Amino acid sequence: MKILVATEKPFTLFAIKQIRQVTDAAGYELELLENYKGESELISAVSDADAMIVRSDKVTPAILDAAKKLKIVVRAGAGYDNLDLKACTAHNVVAMNTPGQNSNAVAELVFSMMLYQARDGFAGKSGSELRGRTIGIHAFGNVGKYVAEIATGFGMDIYAFDPFVSEVEMKKHGVKVCKTAEELYSKCQYVSLHLPANDKTNKSIGYDLLKLMPKDSVLVNTARKEVIDEEGLMKVFAERPDIRYLSDVEPDCKPVFEKMYKDRFIFTAKKMGAQTEEANVNAGVAAARQIVDFFETGNIKFKVNK
Ligand code: 3PG
Repeated sequence: MKILVATEKPFTLFAIKQIRQVTDAAGYELELLENYKGESELISAVSDADAMIVRSDKVTPAILDAAKKLKIVVRAGAGYDNLDLKACTAHNVVAMNTPGQNSNAVAELVFSMMLYQARDGFAGKSGSELRGRTIGIHAFGNVGKYVAEIATGFGMDIYAFDPFVSEVEMKKHGVKVCKTAEELYSKCQYVSLHLPANDKTNKSIGYDLLKLMPKDSVLVNTARKEVIDEEGLMKVFAERPDIRYLSDVEPDCKPVFEKMYKDRFIFTAKKMGAQTEEANVNAGVAAARQIVDFFETGNIKFKVNK
Protein backbone atom coordinates (compact mmCIF):
# COMPACT_ATOMS: atom_id res chain seq x y z
CA MET A 1 0.00 0.00 0.00
CA LYS A 2 1.49 3.33 -1.01
CA ILE A 3 0.56 6.62 0.66
CA LEU A 4 1.56 9.86 -1.02
CA VAL A 5 1.93 12.99 1.10
CA ALA A 6 1.52 15.83 -1.42
CA THR A 7 2.13 19.15 0.28
CA GLU A 8 3.00 22.34 -1.54
CA LYS A 9 3.39 23.76 2.01
CA PRO A 10 5.19 20.88 3.81
CA PHE A 11 4.62 19.50 7.28
CA THR A 12 7.50 19.87 9.76
CA LEU A 13 10.14 17.12 9.86
CA PHE A 14 8.88 15.99 13.25
CA ALA A 15 5.33 15.67 11.91
CA ILE A 16 6.58 13.56 8.99
CA LYS A 17 8.45 11.35 11.46
CA GLN A 18 5.23 10.82 13.41
CA ILE A 19 3.21 10.15 10.24
CA ARG A 20 5.86 7.63 9.14
CA GLN A 21 5.55 5.78 12.46
CA VAL A 22 1.86 5.21 11.73
CA THR A 23 2.41 4.03 8.15
CA ASP A 24 5.47 1.88 9.07
CA ALA A 25 3.49 0.15 11.81
CA ALA A 26 0.84 -0.75 9.24
CA GLY A 27 3.48 -1.95 6.77
CA TYR A 28 2.60 0.79 4.24
CA GLU A 29 5.03 2.70 2.06
CA LEU A 30 5.19 6.51 2.47
CA GLU A 31 6.23 8.82 -0.34
CA LEU A 32 6.70 12.58 -0.02
CA LEU A 33 6.05 15.20 -2.67
CA GLU A 34 6.86 18.48 -0.90
CA ASN A 35 7.24 22.06 -2.16
CA TYR A 36 6.05 20.99 -5.60
CA LYS A 37 5.50 23.75 -8.12
CA GLY A 38 2.59 22.71 -10.32
CA GLU A 39 -0.21 20.22 -10.95
CA SER A 40 1.93 18.25 -13.42
CA GLU A 41 4.37 17.21 -10.65
CA LEU A 42 1.47 15.95 -8.56
CA ILE A 43 -0.06 14.18 -11.56
CA SER A 44 3.09 12.11 -12.07
CA ALA A 45 3.61 11.41 -8.36
CA VAL A 46 0.06 10.17 -7.74
CA SER A 47 -0.06 7.56 -10.52
CA ASP A 48 0.72 4.56 -8.28
CA ALA A 49 -0.60 5.87 -4.92
CA ASP A 50 -3.35 3.99 -3.08
CA ALA A 51 -3.95 6.89 -0.72
CA MET A 52 -3.04 10.54 -0.56
CA ILE A 53 -2.65 13.12 2.23
CA VAL A 54 -2.90 16.79 1.23
CA ARG A 55 -3.19 20.18 2.94
CA SER A 56 -4.66 23.08 0.91
CA ASP A 57 -3.40 21.36 -2.24
CA LYS A 58 -6.03 21.29 -4.97
CA VAL A 59 -7.34 17.84 -5.86
CA THR A 60 -8.73 18.27 -9.37
CA PRO A 61 -10.36 15.92 -11.91
CA ALA A 62 -7.04 15.82 -13.82
CA ILE A 63 -5.23 14.56 -10.72
CA LEU A 64 -7.93 11.98 -10.04
CA ASP A 65 -7.80 10.81 -13.68
CA ALA A 66 -4.09 10.16 -13.26
CA ALA A 67 -4.51 8.45 -9.87
CA LYS A 68 -5.49 5.04 -11.22
CA LYS A 69 -5.11 3.18 -7.90
CA LEU A 70 -6.31 5.91 -5.53
CA LYS A 71 -8.98 4.84 -3.03
CA ILE A 72 -8.82 7.63 -0.46
CA VAL A 73 -7.65 11.22 -0.14
CA VAL A 74 -7.44 12.89 3.27
CA ARG A 75 -7.24 16.63 3.63
CA ALA A 76 -5.08 17.05 6.77
CA GLY A 77 -7.08 19.98 8.07
CA ALA A 78 -10.62 21.26 8.42
CA GLY A 79 -11.69 23.05 5.23
CA TYR A 80 -12.01 20.75 2.23
CA ASP A 81 -12.94 23.34 -0.39
CA ASN A 82 -9.71 22.34 -2.19
CA LEU A 83 -11.07 18.85 -2.93
CA ASP A 84 -13.33 18.38 -5.95
CA LEU A 85 -15.83 16.19 -4.11
CA LYS A 86 -17.96 15.35 -7.14
CA ALA A 87 -14.88 14.21 -9.04
CA CYS A 88 -13.73 12.14 -6.02
CA THR A 89 -17.09 10.37 -5.94
CA ALA A 90 -17.04 9.86 -9.73
CA HIS A 91 -13.59 8.25 -9.39
CA ASN A 92 -14.71 6.07 -6.43
CA VAL A 93 -12.33 7.90 -4.14
CA VAL A 94 -13.30 8.48 -0.51
CA ALA A 95 -12.56 12.06 0.57
CA MET A 96 -12.02 12.89 4.25
CA ASN A 97 -10.88 15.78 6.43
CA THR A 98 -9.45 15.79 9.97
CA PRO A 99 -11.79 18.18 11.80
CA GLY A 100 -10.56 19.90 14.96
CA GLN A 101 -6.92 18.85 14.64
CA ASN A 102 -5.49 22.28 13.83
CA SER A 103 -8.18 24.45 15.44
CA ASN A 104 -6.15 25.75 18.36
CA ALA A 105 -3.37 26.88 16.02
CA VAL A 106 -5.85 28.90 13.97
CA ALA A 107 -7.43 30.42 17.09
CA GLU A 108 -4.00 31.47 18.38
CA LEU A 109 -3.28 33.14 15.04
CA VAL A 110 -6.50 35.18 15.43
CA PHE A 111 -5.14 36.65 18.66
CA SER A 112 -1.61 37.12 17.29
CA MET A 113 -3.03 39.25 14.50
CA MET A 114 -5.38 41.16 16.79
CA LEU A 115 -2.60 41.97 19.26
CA TYR A 116 -0.15 42.97 16.54
CA GLN A 117 -2.76 45.33 15.08
CA ALA A 118 -3.91 46.66 18.47
CA ARG A 119 -0.28 47.53 19.36
CA ASP A 120 0.34 49.17 15.99
CA GLY A 121 2.89 46.62 14.87
CA PHE A 122 5.05 47.15 18.00
CA ALA A 123 6.47 50.25 16.34
CA GLY A 124 6.70 52.40 19.47
CA LYS A 125 3.31 54.19 19.50
CA SER A 126 0.60 53.65 22.15
CA GLY A 127 -1.94 51.08 21.01
CA SER A 128 -5.03 49.61 22.63
CA GLU A 129 -5.95 46.57 24.74
CA LEU A 130 -8.31 43.67 24.12
CA ARG A 131 -9.76 43.51 27.64
CA GLY A 132 -13.33 44.76 27.73
CA ARG A 133 -13.70 44.88 23.94
CA THR A 134 -16.50 43.04 22.17
CA ILE A 135 -15.62 40.11 19.93
CA GLY A 136 -18.07 38.36 17.62
CA ILE A 137 -17.42 34.81 16.53
CA HIS A 138 -19.06 34.17 13.17
CA ALA A 139 -19.61 30.39 13.02
CA PHE A 140 -19.10 28.43 16.19
CA GLY A 141 -17.30 25.24 15.14
CA ASN A 142 -14.02 23.86 16.47
CA VAL A 143 -12.01 27.04 15.84
CA GLY A 144 -14.79 29.30 17.12
CA LYS A 145 -14.81 27.42 20.42
CA TYR A 146 -11.06 27.90 20.92
CA VAL A 147 -11.44 31.59 20.03
CA ALA A 148 -14.12 31.87 22.75
CA GLU A 149 -11.83 30.16 25.28
CA ILE A 150 -8.89 32.46 24.55
CA ALA A 151 -11.10 35.58 24.41
CA THR A 152 -12.37 34.66 27.89
CA GLY A 153 -8.77 34.73 29.14
CA PHE A 154 -8.32 38.18 27.61
CA GLY A 155 -11.43 39.44 29.45
CA MET A 156 -13.33 40.20 26.26
CA ASP A 157 -17.11 40.46 25.94
CA ILE A 158 -17.91 37.51 23.65
CA TYR A 159 -20.77 37.09 21.17
CA ALA A 160 -21.36 34.35 18.61
CA PHE A 161 -23.62 33.64 15.68
CA ASP A 162 -24.11 30.22 14.11
CA PRO A 163 -27.49 29.03 12.80
CA PHE A 164 -26.24 25.41 12.88
CA VAL A 165 -25.22 25.30 16.56
CA SER A 166 -27.77 25.29 19.38
CA GLU A 167 -28.04 28.15 21.84
CA VAL A 168 -27.46 25.69 24.70
CA GLU A 169 -24.18 24.50 23.17
CA MET A 170 -22.96 28.05 22.56
CA LYS A 171 -23.86 29.17 26.08
CA LYS A 172 -21.81 26.28 27.51
CA HIS A 173 -18.79 28.12 26.13
CA GLY A 174 -19.72 31.36 27.86
CA VAL A 175 -20.71 33.33 24.78
CA LYS A 176 -23.73 35.58 24.27
CA VAL A 177 -25.80 34.23 21.42
CA CYS A 178 -26.82 36.46 18.50
CA LYS A 179 -29.91 35.51 16.53
CA THR A 180 -28.68 37.06 13.27
CA ALA A 181 -25.41 37.94 11.61
CA GLU A 182 -26.59 41.58 11.56
CA GLU A 183 -26.86 41.55 15.36
CA LEU A 184 -23.32 40.16 15.67
CA TYR A 185 -21.76 42.75 13.36
CA SER A 186 -23.67 45.63 15.00
CA LYS A 187 -22.49 44.67 18.47
CA CYS A 188 -18.86 43.70 17.94
CA GLN A 189 -15.68 45.74 17.50
CA TYR A 190 -13.84 42.59 16.49
CA VAL A 191 -15.50 39.99 14.28
CA SER A 192 -13.62 36.74 13.70
CA LEU A 193 -14.71 34.57 10.76
CA HIS A 194 -14.81 30.79 11.03
CA LEU A 195 -17.15 29.78 8.22
CA PRO A 196 -16.28 27.14 5.66
CA ALA A 197 -16.02 28.25 2.01
CA ASN A 198 -18.87 26.79 -0.04
CA ASP A 199 -21.62 27.83 -2.45
CA LYS A 200 -23.68 29.29 0.39
CA THR A 201 -20.94 31.21 2.18
CA ASN A 202 -18.77 32.50 -0.67
CA LYS A 203 -18.97 36.31 -0.88
CA SER A 204 -21.43 36.28 2.03
CA ILE A 205 -19.51 38.87 4.10
CA GLY A 206 -19.85 42.22 2.38
CA TYR A 207 -20.98 45.81 2.61
CA ASP A 208 -24.37 45.20 4.28
CA LEU A 209 -22.81 43.44 7.27
CA LEU A 210 -19.54 45.35 7.55
CA LYS A 211 -21.17 48.76 7.50
CA LEU A 212 -22.98 47.77 10.72
CA MET A 213 -19.78 47.40 12.74
CA PRO A 214 -19.19 49.95 15.54
CA LYS A 215 -16.53 52.65 15.35
CA ASP A 216 -12.92 51.44 15.22
CA SER A 217 -13.81 47.88 14.24
CA VAL A 218 -11.60 45.08 13.01
CA LEU A 219 -12.58 42.17 10.75
CA VAL A 220 -10.37 39.10 11.28
CA ASN A 221 -10.43 36.45 8.58
CA THR A 222 -8.60 33.20 9.27
CA ALA A 223 -11.26 31.27 7.33
CA ARG A 224 -11.06 31.69 3.54
CA LYS A 225 -10.66 34.76 1.33
CA GLU A 226 -13.58 33.46 -0.77
CA VAL A 227 -16.15 34.19 1.96
CA ILE A 228 -15.50 37.92 1.57
CA ASP A 229 -17.28 40.00 -1.04
CA GLU A 230 -14.21 42.10 -1.83
CA GLU A 231 -16.18 44.79 -3.65
CA GLY A 232 -18.28 45.33 -0.54
CA LEU A 233 -15.16 45.33 1.62
CA MET A 234 -13.58 48.01 -0.58
CA LYS A 235 -16.75 50.10 -0.39
CA VAL A 236 -16.76 49.96 3.41
CA PHE A 237 -13.05 50.79 3.52
CA ALA A 238 -13.65 53.85 1.36
CA GLU A 239 -16.50 55.07 3.56
CA ARG A 240 -15.12 54.10 6.95
CA PRO A 241 -11.48 55.06 7.66
CA ASP A 242 -11.88 53.54 11.15
CA ILE A 243 -12.28 49.95 9.92
CA ARG A 244 -9.39 47.48 9.67
CA TYR A 245 -8.97 44.08 8.01
CA LEU A 246 -6.68 41.26 9.17
CA SER A 247 -6.58 38.29 6.84
CA ASP A 248 -4.71 34.99 6.84
CA VAL A 249 -3.87 35.02 3.11
CA GLU A 250 -3.83 37.96 0.79
CA PRO A 251 -7.13 39.02 -0.79
CA ASP A 252 -7.33 39.55 -4.55
CA CYS A 253 -7.72 43.29 -3.92
CA LYS A 254 -4.39 43.51 -2.05
CA PRO A 255 -2.89 46.01 -4.56
CA VAL A 256 -5.72 48.45 -3.77
CA PHE A 257 -5.13 48.07 -0.04
CA GLU A 258 -1.43 48.68 -0.50
CA LYS A 259 -2.03 51.79 -2.53
CA MET A 260 -4.89 53.34 -0.56
CA TYR A 261 -5.16 51.86 2.91
CA LYS A 262 -1.64 51.62 4.31
CA ASP A 263 -1.68 50.79 8.06
CA ARG A 264 -5.26 49.47 7.95
CA PHE A 265 -4.55 45.82 7.16
CA ILE A 266 -2.39 42.80 7.87
CA PHE A 267 -2.24 40.03 5.25
CA THR A 268 -0.17 36.87 5.50
CA ALA A 269 1.53 35.84 2.26
CA LYS A 270 0.87 32.15 2.82
CA LYS A 271 -1.92 30.67 4.92
CA MET A 272 -0.37 30.57 8.43
CA GLY A 273 -3.29 29.41 10.60
CA ALA A 274 -2.24 25.76 10.77
CA GLN A 275 1.49 26.46 10.56
CA THR A 276 2.57 25.11 13.96
CA GLU A 277 4.44 21.94 14.87
CA GLU A 278 1.48 20.83 16.97
CA ALA A 279 -1.11 21.37 14.22
CA ASN A 280 1.11 19.60 11.66
CA VAL A 281 1.50 16.60 13.98
CA ASN A 282 -2.17 16.49 14.98
CA ALA A 283 -3.60 16.82 11.46
CA GLY A 284 -0.91 14.74 9.70
CA VAL A 285 -1.05 11.83 12.14
CA ALA A 286 -4.86 11.88 12.19
CA ALA A 287 -4.84 11.71 8.36
CA ALA A 288 -2.42 8.75 8.37
CA ARG A 289 -4.45 6.92 11.04
CA GLN A 290 -7.70 7.52 9.14
CA ILE A 291 -6.13 6.01 6.01
CA VAL A 292 -4.86 2.92 7.83
CA ASP A 293 -8.19 2.53 9.56
CA PHE A 294 -10.03 2.85 6.24
CA PHE A 295 -7.97 0.09 4.59
CA GLU A 296 -7.89 -2.20 7.64
CA THR A 297 -11.47 -1.82 8.94
CA GLY A 298 -13.43 0.16 6.32
CA ASN A 299 -13.99 3.06 8.75
CA ILE A 300 -15.41 6.09 6.88
CA LYS A 301 -16.32 8.25 9.89
CA PHE A 302 -14.72 11.40 8.45
CA LYS A 303 -15.90 10.94 4.87
CA VAL A 304 -17.05 14.25 3.33
CA ASN A 305 -18.16 13.19 -0.18
CA LYS A 306 -21.41 11.40 -0.95
C1 3PG B 1 -7.70 24.22 7.35
O1 3PG B 1 -8.73 24.34 6.67
O2 3PG B 1 -7.53 23.24 8.09
C2 3PG B 1 -6.68 25.33 7.37
O3 3PG B 1 -7.03 26.33 6.48
C3 3PG B 1 -5.26 24.84 7.17
O4 3PG B 1 -4.77 24.91 5.87
P1 3PG B 1 -3.28 24.43 5.53
O5 3PG B 1 -3.17 22.98 5.83
O6 3PG B 1 -3.09 24.75 4.08
O7 3PG B 1 -2.32 25.23 6.37
